[in-house]
Amino acid sequence: MTVTERGAAMPENGLGRREMLGAAGVAACGLALAGCGTGDAQTQPSLKGKVIAKTADVPVGGGKVIEDLKIVVTQPAQGVYKAFSAICTHKGCAVSTPKDNVIRCACHGSEFAADSGNATKGPATAPLAAFQVKAEGDGIVIV
Ligand code: FES
Repeated sequence: MTVTERGAAMPENGLGRREMLGAAGVAACGLALAGCGTGDAQTQPSLKGKVIAKTADVPVGGGKVIEDLKIVVTQPAQGVYKAFSAICTHKGCAVSTPKDNVIRCACHGSEFAADSGNATKGPATAPLAAFQVKAEGDGIVIV
């Protein structure tokens, strides 16, 4: 690391200011509630144990977007519930209600698998960040 004439620290590996800002953004994503589509979501302690939807509102093959939490819940197979960040990993639009086991983003047409959150159609390439959930009684709970 060297210091420029303006006092800014610059890496010696050839990374410019833009690359450094990008790296900082990636680091900041780790602190966000829903992550940045790079793996499991960081679940805020306040969400643990929270009932985020009723099982009756999440049909097999479909799902429900919980808008205030920015979470999409799916039921890719009978009795199997999954939850993901509802923020598209392309440019951050909210995804639409899942249908036919596909989570779609209307902004630019990206599609994500309802069972894994993986991007199956671009322009998004990164998966939706996953939350761990379980069915408990008639509710779907974040664990
Ligand atoms: S923001 Fe979702 S496809 Fe572009």
